[in-house]
Formats: sequence, structure tokens, C-alpha cells
Amino acid sequence: MDVTEEPLWRELCGWRDCGGRRDFPYQAVISHLRAVGKHFLPHRILEVLAECRDVLSARPSGTHGDADAGTVLARFLGVVLDKFDDRYDYPSYTALPLLRGSGPATPGDWQALRRRRDRTVLLLLADLVGFERRVLDGAPSDPQGMLPTPLLLNKRLRLAARVMEAAALRVLDGAVDPVAVATTPGRTPAGELADAVIATASDEERLLLLTSVQPVYVLHDEYLFLRVLQSFEATFTFMSATLDAAVGVLRGERPAEAAALIASVADVLRESLPLFSLLATMQPESFQEFRQFTDGASAIQSEGYKTFESYCSTPARARLDSPAFTSVPDVRDAVLAGRETVQGTWEDVISSGWLSEPDAAVVRAAARQLEAVHQRWKQTHYRLAVRMIGERTGTGATEGVPYLKSVISNRLFPAMENALEHQPVAG
Ligand code: HEM
Repeated sequence: MDVTEEPLWRELCGWRDCGGRRDFPYQAVISHLRAVGKHFLPHRILEVLAECRDVLSARPSGTHGDADAGTVLARFLGVVLDKFDDRYDYPSYTALPLLRGSGPATPGDWQALRRRRDRTVLLLLADLVGFERRVLDGAPSDPQGMLPTPLLLNKRLRLAARVMEAAALRVLDGAVDPVAVATTPGRTPAGELADAVIATASDEERLLLLTSVQPVYVLHDEYLFLRVLQSFEATFTFMSATLDAAVGVLRGERPAEAAALIASVADVLRESLPLFSLLATMQPESFQEFRQFTDGASAIQSEGYKTFESYCSTPARARLDSPAFTSVPDVRDAVLAGRETVQGTWEDVISSGWLSEPDAAVVRAAARQLEAVHQRWKQTHYRLAVRMIGERTGTGATEGVPYLKSVISNRLFPAMENALEHQPVAG
């Protein structure tokens, strides 16, 4: 055994042998994983981690430590052992089981859902800023292969601050200057903003930040990749839950409220677009190196994205039967079981006659905003993929860029778009 893994192996054996009665050595596991990459964790370490998992699942819940701590550890081990168990995929690569926590606390309360999304994105990006600043301070932490130049890192910090500002304005009193943000977005000093966020983090949130970056390889830029994917996932979670609520209020004959919910989804997605600019600071040669070990994990498996999409309207049968939805079987099943959608509900209420034209117009306008921002999302994503992978195939078993080009013509609200086209033009 390599001498550097010996202390970790002993520590894990100690934890296993005492039946998990002491604190789990998260920091030691993560330090080793980030130094070698998850794809290269030594077999003996993986074996003893699997034994720790057996110990954990054998102990009656509530006997040692609280139930929540046991759940977090079970999720953590599930993510660390994904490759070992041969069930590595996009959710486990991005540590989503850890980030999902215990689900929405207040379903239907869209402002609470947005606060949760804002807080998660702030924490993820504040942690990223801290990671990048350590390089600028001359003390990089793992993974530290192929370090970017200070110029690129400073750009990264500015773009991270830009995404954080909008969320901080809503949930972090006094941390950013609203006037400055309105005139020159992205100028809030990233370090100060990140420090302000981290100062508010609870012990649970600090553990979440520590455990949720599990790069497959040893290159610095993978940290950025993971945090950007996770920030988008937190955003998709908010979008899905809020559109679900929009369907409910539209059905409940409250069109203005439904329009406000759809517009808030459009706003949050628009604010998130600079995450792509942030990710564009990833060095393509770095990405091409570490993606050799991410095969099998692709955001085509993002349940959050497909859930959001399928709350807008029911996807066409051809799309449901393509890798777009066969990659997310649970979401596909929910659609086939008759998930109610914004467009479907809107059509129902139009035909039932209670929706007045002015009310229909506000709902359509909000849907149109969301459609437009989602088109920008797809185009930006496509351009980024061209830059990062060129003609290489995707890690989700598609042809890659041609697939992304083909989905650009899809629409979230095809019937509403037709309704707009067929409306009489005023004057
Ligand atoms: C280096 C940056 C990126 C590249 C090269 C890239 C590439 C790709 C490719 C090639 C696909 C097609 C499926 C496959 O075979 O993998 C895909 C799908 C997808 N990607 Fe990305 N992607 C990038 C970043 C992102 C980010 C940051 C997100 C945000 C979560 C994202 C979300 C998605 C989604 C939701 C799909 C499925 C789209 C659909 O089925 O309509 N991607 N991506």
C-alpha cells in the first residue's frame, strides 16, 4: 500500500472496528480523494469505506449520534462509492443526494423556495471563490493540477460575484450595494462577498460544502465545473417546484399569481446565465483531460432540468422516447402518468371560458419571457459545448454538439407560441 494512504486506511479501520461510535473522518477522506481523484481511489480504501457503510446500515437508527448525521454519512458514502459500486452517474458525480437535503421545506411557497435556491447558490459560489483565492494567495489546495493564470482566476472571481449579487440582494442584508449592482453588475469584491456568506454558514452547511466536491481527477478546474453544475441544479429545483405551484394557482383561477410565478422562474434563470460565462473560464485542455473519467455522467441525466421542462408542457412523444427522457426514467414515468403542465392547464382554462383575455395575456407574457430566456440558455450552452468539446461525442452517449443543436428548435410552450402568432395584430 502507498505510504500516504496508510493513515487514512487506519483511521477508517478504527471507525469500522468501533462500530461507528466516533466522528467519521470526513476531512481525511475528502483530502485523500481530492489529492488523487475519485477515479483513482485505492482499492483498499474503497473496500474499507464499503465496510464502514455496512456498519452504518447495520446499526439501529438513533443509537449513536442523531438520525440526520447517519443520513448524511449514508449519502456521502453513496457518492464516494459510486464508481466502486458501478452505479456512477450524473447525480452521484455532482453529489446531488447530499445537496438535495431533505426536500423542499415549504412546497408551494415560492419565495421560500427561492430563498433556499439563493442560499444554496451563494454557499456553493462562496466556496468556489475561497478555493480560487487560495491559488492567488500562493497556497492552492487540491485538486491543483493545471492551475489557471492569475488573470483567468480574477475573471472567474468577477463572474462568480456577478451571479452571487442577485441572490445576495434578496437574502443577505447589506452584503451588496443595490445601486452599484444595478449600474455595474459584477463589481462587488468577490472575496468580501464570499467571506460574508461563509460567516453565516452553519456547521451542517460547512460539512455539505466539504463533502460535495468529489472530483474524478486531480485538475484544478474540475472544482469550478462541479460548483457550476450544482448551482444550476439548485436553480432547476426552484424552477420545477415553482412551475408546479403555478399550475396549481392557474387551475385555482388565480392567473395573475400564476403569471408572477412563471415570471419569477424566468428571472432566476436569466440571473443564472452568467454561470455559463463563469464556466467558460475553464481551460478546454483541462476539461478534455478530466472528462476521460466522467464517462457515464452527463447532464442529460439531470432530473431537475427535465422536470422543469415537463412542467411547462408535455414533451413530444419523439423527445420522450429519445435519450433526452430515457436518461431520466422517473421523470419520464411522471410525464406518462399525466403530469399537469402550465400549457395544458392554460389551454383547459381557456376552453372552459373563465379566463378573460387580459388575464390570458399576462400568463402568455410571462410564458414568453421564460421561453426567451430558455432559448438563450440553450444557445449559450451549445456555444460553450462547441468551445469545450468540439466534435467529440458527449458523455451521455449522444453525438455531442449536433444533439445540442437539434434541441434548440424545441419550445417549452409550443401551443402558447402558436396562440401568439395567431393573435390579431393591434392597429
Ligand atoms: C463544459 C461544459 C459543457 C459541455 C461540454 C456540455 C456538453 C453537453 C453535451 C454534449 C450534451 C448532450 C448529452 C451528452 O451526450 O452528454 C449535454 C446535455 C445537457 N447539458 Fe451540458 N455541457 C456543459 C455544461 C453544462 C452545464 C453547466 C449544464 C447545467 C446543468 C448543462 C446541462 C445540460 C443539460 C440539461 C443537458 C440535456 C439537454 C437536453 O437533453 O435537451 N451542461 N451537454
